[in-house]
Amino acid sequence: MVTLQSTVTLHNGVEMPWFGLGVFKVEDGQEVVDSVLAAIKAGYRSIDTAAIYGNEEGVGKAIKESGVERSDLFITSKVWNADQGYESTLKAFDTSLNKLGLDYLDLYLIHWPKAGTYKDTWKALEMLYKEGRVKAIGVSNFHIHHLKDLLQDAEIKPMVNQVEYHPHLAQLELRAFCKEQEIQLEAWSPLKQGELLTDDTITSIAAKYEKSPAQVILRWDLQNEVITIPKSVKEERIIDNANIFDFSLSEEDMQAINQLNKDERVGPDPDNFDF
Ligand SMILES: NC(=O)c1ccc[n+]([C@@H]2O[C@H](COP(=O)([O-])OP(=O)(O)OC[C@H]3O[C@@H](n4cnc5c(N)ncnc54)[C@H](OP(=O)(O)O)[C@@H]3O)[C@@H](O)[C@H]2O)c1
Repeated sequence: MVTLQSTVTLHNGVEMPWFGLGVFKVEDGQEVVDSVLAAIKAGYRSIDTAAIYGNEEGVGKAIKESGVERSDLFITSKVWNADQGYESTLKAFDTSLNKLGLDYLDLYLIHWPKAGTYKDTWKALEMLYKEGRVKAIGVSNFHIHHLKDLLQDAEIKPMVNQVEYHPHLAQLELRAFCKEQEIQLEAWSPLKQGELLTDDTITSIAAKYEKSPAQVILRWDLQNEVITIPKSVKEERIIDNANIFDFSLSEEDMQAINQLNKDERVGPDPDNFDF
């Protein structure tokens, strides 16, 4: 974890960057093109999109315009709930690839654990993986019980679980379970969508290191061995957020941030969503 391009080796040997750009709620067209281009220019190599974000075309356009080799980038997308099931997932994957203008994905995730369907969806992801159309497959928003259920029938173990994760939601049990299973944890809404940036503990630690609150939180993710994908549409923030490889938080400051945990979410609980 020494540069923005440092990677973690997933359990199937694929190298995934520790740090990336999220593009949830970024408009398709110029806004997403500019954000992705700014990120790649700043050295980001990993981009996290999803079919439901409606901006895969813009992400694809920026990838082309960036001039960076496809093999040097790590592109994630996700199958939306309405498309879950075996055949419909295969179709949704093709649609995402077409929109992105790519011939493979680096990571494809089941976006939410839709009851009764996610095992069929997983079979489709296993097929896409065996065909070499995606380098790694994983899940998102899976609790331990969802993972245990999936693992009962899975031929291939998910390589990644992308979940809401930030100092107010430290996911201690899930993190331990994933570590034991070699499923890499990835944080969504790492900044709690901005809410944590004014927290007193975070701002005082930030002042001590002469870093921004966002940098302190994102550094905490990495020191906890959690991949992180903050979103911003502002170039200066995109650059600032990634500037976290030149300092490290002391054990004491890591503990102070750990103490902020209150199991509080900004998004829905995966046991109780209605979409
Ligand atoms: N799998 C899932 O179900 C799921 C769910 C949610 C998100 N995600 C993924 O995770 C990514 C990140 O999560 P998120 O977008 O929800 O939230 P986030 O990254 O925690 O926060 C983004 C918000 O913080 C602001 N921000 C970013 N950097 C900042 C800085 N340095 N200073 C001040 N404000 C800053 C952004 O505003 P500006 O853009 O105006 O800078 C935006 O409003 C998403 O984009 C998406 O790729 C996945």
